[in-house]
Amino acid sequence: MKRVFSGVQPTGNIHLGNYLGALKQFVELQDDHECLYCIVDLHAITVPQDPKALREHILDVAALYLAVGIDPKKSIVFVQSDVSGHSELSWVLTCNSYTGELSRMTQFKDKSKNKESAPTGLFTYPVLMAADILLYDTDIVPVGNDQKQHIELCRDLAIRINGKYKDTFVVPDGRFLKAGARIMALDDPTKKMSKSAENIHSRISLLDEPSKIKKSIMKATTDSEGIIRYDVENKPGISNLLTIYSVLSGISIEDLEKKYEGKGYGDFKKDLVEVTVNALAPIKARYEEIRHSQELLDVLEEGAQKADAIAKKTMARVKENFGLGR
Ligand code: AMP
Ligand code: TRP
Repeated sequence: MKRVFSGVQPTGNIHLGNYLGALKQFVELQDDHECLYCIVDLHAITVPQDPKALREHILDVAALYLAVGIDPKKSIVFVQSDVSGHSELSWVLTCNSYTGELSRMTQFKDKSKNKESAPTGLFTYPVLMAADILLYDTDIVPVGNDQKQHIELCRDLAIRINGKYKDTFVVPDGRFLKAGARIMALDDPTKKMSKSAENIHSRISLLDEPSKIKKSIMKATTDSEGIIRYDVENKPGISNLLTIYSVLSGISIEDLEKKYEGKGYGDFKKDLVEVTVNALAPIKARYEEIRHSQELLDVLEEGAQKADAIAKKTMARVKENFGLGR
């Protein structure tokens, strides 16, 4: 069985983009792959965090993983900082990465823009991500499109080290969806939907109340043409809403265009509100059930042990091949 690894940052506001770009794939893959799904708290501290809130957000994401349908009997669900191998391997990889290639990462450039100095962790963030992936001999990494460059760096590091030392790492492939890989902000469909945008109506969080979902969708930016047609270039707003509608309902975009021929944006948006509320209701219900349960803590404990057992084996191989230790 091929091995799958992915991670989500525990920073609150898990939104439809996270769900459609990443979490939905996680669930689909677990039937015929050996999956590890991580809550990457070490990545979260690359920017300042409130310790109390961070701890809560870790459990929030863990509960959401289970609520969207990740089954701990099939997949390993765990918290990154519970397995020390992530930090250890990250250092080894750091010593084999170049400041030049890290300076080219667009996420770093975006996050450090207009700042005189940025945290070093923000700079080496993609190396820690590569460590997450390589630590488990991962074959497949399901992520949204925004992570493409980081996956490429991970592959480069693995290939570089395999060439320099004995064959040490499995070279992974990214897995990007065609539909849903990049959900755009509702208020500005030229930007991706993000956890950190100030306007709460730019995103739909998985735990939003129906009234909030309604407001965000009804306010969503469209255009003045009044025709429901998929055309990312000229109609990014409607195209984004069509993508969301299609992925949540399973109806193809073509069929949706037909269904709404001659109808206005208002009708279309009203239906999209219903589709979205209905899709998120069971997730929210399951989330409320498990968020404060012992079951959740047990899943994370067992996940940490299983992940650590795999990580220890990889670290032993890495140390052997690098000549580290006694
Ligand atoms: P993050 O929120 O950065 O921890 O991302 C968690 C996962 O969601 C990653 O696989 C991202 O690629 C994915 N993701 C984040 N934002 C979006 C978006 N707007 N559209 C699609 N996927 C996204
Ligand atoms: N960087 C990813 C994001 O922001 C999260 C992440 C960390 C990740 N480590 C990973 C994703 C390993 C896939 C595999 O979305």
